[in-house]
Amino acid sequence: MDENIVWHNYAVNKSQRSEQKGHKPVILWFTGFSGSGKSTVAGALESALHQQGVHTYLLDGDNVRHGLCKDLGFSDEDRVENIRRVGELSKLMVDAGLVVLTAFISPFQAERDMVRNLVGDGEFIEVFLDTPLDVCEQRDPKGLYKKARAGEIKHFTGIDSDYQVPVNPEIRIDTSANSLEQSVQQLVAYLKDKQVIG
Ligand code: PPS
Repeated sequence: MDENIVWHNYAVNKSQRSEQKGHKPVILWFTGFSGSGKSTVAGALESALHQQGVHTYLLDGDNVRHGLCKDLGFSDEDRVENIRRVGELSKLMVDAGLVVLTAFISPFQAERDMVRNLVGDGEFIEVFLDTPLDVCEQRDPKGLYKKARAGEIKHFTGIDSDYQVPVNPEIRIDTSANSLEQSVQQLVAYLKDKQVIG
C-alpha cells in the first residue's frame, strides 16, 4: 500500500446507514458445487427478503464474470483473485448497509475465511450447499459436467479441480433433501434468530 494513500472518514457512517434501513448488514455467502442450488436458493431468499422491505443485493458468479471479473478464468490463481474482488465488493456493500447474498463456488477455505475476516463479527454467514456431487452432475443444468467429463472444459470443480468442504459453516443445506421453500425458511429463521431482520 502506498504510504501517500490515506483513509478518509465521512460524516455518514455504517451504523447510521444500517439504522435508516431498519436491519443489520450481513453477507450470506453461498458456497458449493456448480448445480448445488446456490443461485436458486439465494435468488428465492432475496425475493422473500425484498418483499419484507429488506435492502438486498445478489452477486452471482456467472454474472460477475461478465464484468468485474471478465478477465479471470478457472485456474486456482484466478479463482483466488475472483473471490478477493467479490469479498472486497461485498465488504463495501455491507458498509452501505445491505444484506448481500453471494453465489460463488468459492472452492477454497482460505479465501472464504479471508472474506469472513474482512467484516465484523456475525456479519459473515457461510451457507454450504451440501448437495452431493453426483446429484449436481445429474442435474447438469448448463451441460457443463458433460463437457468436463468429455475433456472439453478443463479445471472443472469436482471433476479435475478441488472443492474444499467448509469446516464450520453457519448453515448447511442439501437441496436434494429439502424443498426450495424449506431452504428459504431455514435461512429466514436463522436471520431472525440472529436479529439481522425483525
Ligand atoms: S469460483 O470457483 O468461485 O471462482 O467460480 P464462480 O465465479 O462461482 O463461477 C462458477 C460458474 O462458472 C461456470 N463455469 C465453471 N465452474 C467451475 N469450473 C469451471 N471450470 C467452470 N467453467 C465455467 C459455471 O456455470 C459456474 O456456475 P454455477 O452457478 O456454480 O453453476
